[in-house]
Amino acid sequence: MEVKWKAAALVLALWCCCDALRVTSVSPRRGSVNGATRLTIQGDGFAQERQFQLNPVDDMFGNRVTLVSNTLSVPCDVERDSTHSNQIMCYTRPMPYDYYEIHVSVDGVPIPDNSMCRYSWLCSFTTVWYLTPTIESLSPVSGPPGTLVTVYGRIFTDVYGSNTDLSSNGINARFLRSYMGGMPCELLKPNSDERYNLQLVSESSQMGYMSCKMTGTFVGHQNLSYILDADFGRSQAVKKLYRVSALGKLSMFQTFAEVTGVFPSEGSIMGGTLLTAQGRFLTKLINQHALSLEACRVKFRVWTMTESHARLQNTR
Ligand SMILES: *[C@@H]1O[C@H](CO)[C@@H](O)[C@H](O)[C@H]1NC(C)=O
Repeated sequence: MEVKWKAAALVLALWCCCDALRVTSVSPRRGSVNGATRLTIQGDGFAQERQFQLNPVDDMFGNRVTLVSNTLSVPCDVERDSTHSNQIMCYTRPMPYDYYEIHVSVDGVPIPDNSMCRYSWLCSFTTVWYLTPTIESLSPVSGPPGTLVTVYGRIFTDVYGSNTDLSSNGINARFLRSYMGGMPCELLKPNSDERYNLQLVSESSQMGYMSCKMTGTFVGHQNLSYILDADFGRSQAVKKLYRVSALGKLSMFQTFAEVTGVFPSEGSIMGGTLLTAQGRFLTKLINQHALSLEACRVKFRVWTMTESHARLQNTR
């Protein structure tokens, strides 16, 4: 039954729009090497994304956009809400510096080359350094969750959010979001329109500073990135910012738990001493065995634990 439905939908789709299936333009045709550039693909006969939800797992249905270089083929993630029969919007993924041809298929049917733009270079996308925002330094590089961090790099703009002002250097771009790990890093002070810090080095520069406050309580290794709108996309950090963690993973920032006090502060190393540790994010800390107790060659048994208090007993 379901197969029949799908077949019927496919026939209907082909019958309705196959004669007009084509791509007329793609913009922008250059963008960030680290993804999140939003491509707008204009044309005719694209699938109405919402109509084809008969089987969401079925990859054939809907619009598929792929960027293809001589050596790689990378999907562009379609934004359903902004896609209709004359327009597809999709977000690029991180891709090496290269020239990519754009391929589109609608309900499993690839749009043939002779229906793809008047000249093939009009249906292309090139990742370029000069539209890639960068992170050239980060400070601090470690701290408890909630730390305010400052990035220096090619940030292009000193405008944040949805306002349409030009940046003070004349560039038409805005900060959309910033992330530390999977969580937002907030550019605005709580309950206000005031930014922590977002400024260009000078009015003629693309370099500048952005500060944001981490959200979330994750303790461990994380990366920071930010996203600009227009042709720009996601930032890329210079390699020297990555440190190797004890587990061999690369990261730019390490959150840690804070221990503000241990009582009593002296006791026997022979074991049996009951300790209370006070601080923040202690459960994360102790669960990850990050406490440098091991380094001191002292073993502890954990009796009780909350975010702010832990009762431990020296067992050696
Ligand atoms: C941080 O980014 C680097 C480079 O892209 C990557 O290799 C690493 O796995 C990332 N680390 C984390 C914790 O996500």
